[in-house]
Amino acid sequence: RDAYVNGRYVPHAQAAVHVEDRGFQFADGVYEVVCIRNGRLIDEDGHLDRLDRCLGELRIAWPCERRVMRLIMRRLIGRNGVRNGLIYLQVTRGTAARDFRFPAAARPTLVMTTRRAALAANARAGVRVITIPDIRWKRCDLKTVGLLAQVLGKQEAAERGAFEAWQVDEDGFVTEGTSSNAWILTADGALVTRPASHDILNGITRQSILRIAAAEGVRFEERPFDLDEAYAAREAFVSSATSFVTPVVRIDDRAVGDGTPGALGRRLLEAYVAHAE
Ligand code: PDD
Repeated sequence: RDAYVNGRYVPHAQAAVHVEDRGFQFADGVYEVVCIRNGRLIDEDGHLDRLDRCLGELRIAWPCERRVMRLIMRRLIGRNGVRNGLIYLQVTRGTAARDFRFPAAARPTLVMTTRRAALAANARAGVRVITIPDIRWKRCDLKTVGLLAQVLGKQEAAERGAFEAWQVDEDGFVTEGTSSNAWILTADGALVTRPASHDILNGITRQSILRIAAAEGVRFEERPFDLDEAYAAREAFVSSATSFVTPVVRIDDRAVGDGTPGALGRRLLEAYVAHAE
């Protein structure tokens, strides 16, 4: 299995960047995770558009042309023979002697790895989520590699027997999961997810689900929801490139609906998988 590092395909075990890479020192970089299904990249353009936006906001140059990026992704997937799994790509501002200011000369670092995996493995049985305070910075719309709050949140979820932690803002509204967007089907039948803003990462899967919901005539509302509304929901789910639409059957110690995956979640998952095929 190879990784791609700055122009080279190298065996995964030997793949490395310099100790003064700004991703390592400052989390000064962004990343994407794209799902591979039957050898094809799902929503590739959406992911590359978001990468473009994040790089622009951080004023990091593209490490190569977009066309070349697409080529490298395909080459690595081909070399590694991945039919189902994911590709991870990361761009940092580059390697330079440690200094907070942007380095004058550094060229961005580009690395990619692949992983084989049966994604959305929990999508049938459903998962548990816990809720935690959202302690992240104020630009959660940027997919940066500064993920410490998410690491702590996901670890706490795991230690408490849950799949994901929903982060809750200071006003008591759910922002999103540590690595997924959060959704509920309210007691009166509206599909609700938080609107895109600086408070959440606007998931590519989230955007696909909203398009599917619109096409299928599902009533949806992009607005914040609080924990009381979540606890009273008929259904709940999380969405991401790796979890697709995964039903949530428990939030903290309350069952969602009857405690089993609901009909809308199943329908959205099926439509999402069809869209991915
Ligand atoms: N995480 N919100 C956060 C905070 C995320 O990290 C992610 C993705 C999402 C869902 O975005 P998308 O649908 O584009 O995958 C929402 C990836 C999978 C990760 O960090 O591994």
